[in-house]
Amino acid sequence: MSRFSPEFFDSVYRETPPWDIGAAQPAILALLDEYPPEGPALDVGCGSGDHVFALAGRGVQVLGIDVVEAAIAQARARAEALPPAVARLLEFKVGDALHPTLLQRRFGAVVDSGFFHLFEQDQRDRLADELEATLLPGGRYYLLAFAVEFPMPNTPLKVTEDELRARFTAERGWRILEVRPAQFESRIAPVPAVAACIERLRG
Ligand SMILES: C[S@@+](CC[C@H](N)C(=O)[O-])C[C@H]1O[C@@H](n2cnc3c(N)ncnc32)[C@H](O)[C@@H]1O
Repeated sequence: MSRFSPEFFDSVYRETPPWDIGAAQPAILALLDEYPPEGPALDVGCGSGDHVFALAGRGVQVLGIDVVEAAIAQARARAEALPPAVARLLEFKVGDALHPTLLQRRFGAVVDSGFFHLFEQDQRDRLADELEATLLPGGRYYLLAFAVEFPMPNTPLKVTEDELRARFTAERGWRILEVRPAQFESRIAPVPAVAACIERLRG
């Protein structure tokens, strides 16, 4: 189950959301530097597009998907300011990123900044299976998630290193390349986070 109401994200994008820092998350950029992605890439819950722009800026073809129309409209408007050589590599779509197999496309990389941590354990299990089916063999999942919880409604649920190691196992088709403490930057204050790069096995 998701603890967020369907209206919540629509309402947040009426103003600038706290996670929208106007730039890609440094922890995601560090993972992309250390574990270079293969295209095409998918950004699940892409918001106003910063990680899509970062991937396209690295020459990677990329699709960003978000359920909020206003976020995608903003991302498309921002993309108009990009050099044509970068802009032609990216694409945005309004849709449900919890079921990426419905896109009927395979990806060499999936970037997830603040999406996985929106969901409860049962949905995380299903999302991990969807990601495994969506990534090409050897494809990589780049994750940044809160490592703490706040006693407030409409806030994420923490993700721990132990949870990632238990869920993304070789038996389920995964190899963890990196998992480490990180920070999730926000407009309010940095939040303790976990960053991971997890590879879909080739076999
Ligand atoms: C914490 S924000 C992170 C946004 C962006 N990745 C970033 O780092 O700035 C989570 C995003 O997931 C989107 N979202 C929530 N549920 C979704 C769903 N089921 N499918 C697609 N996007 C969803 C929200 O609209 C929001 O943009």
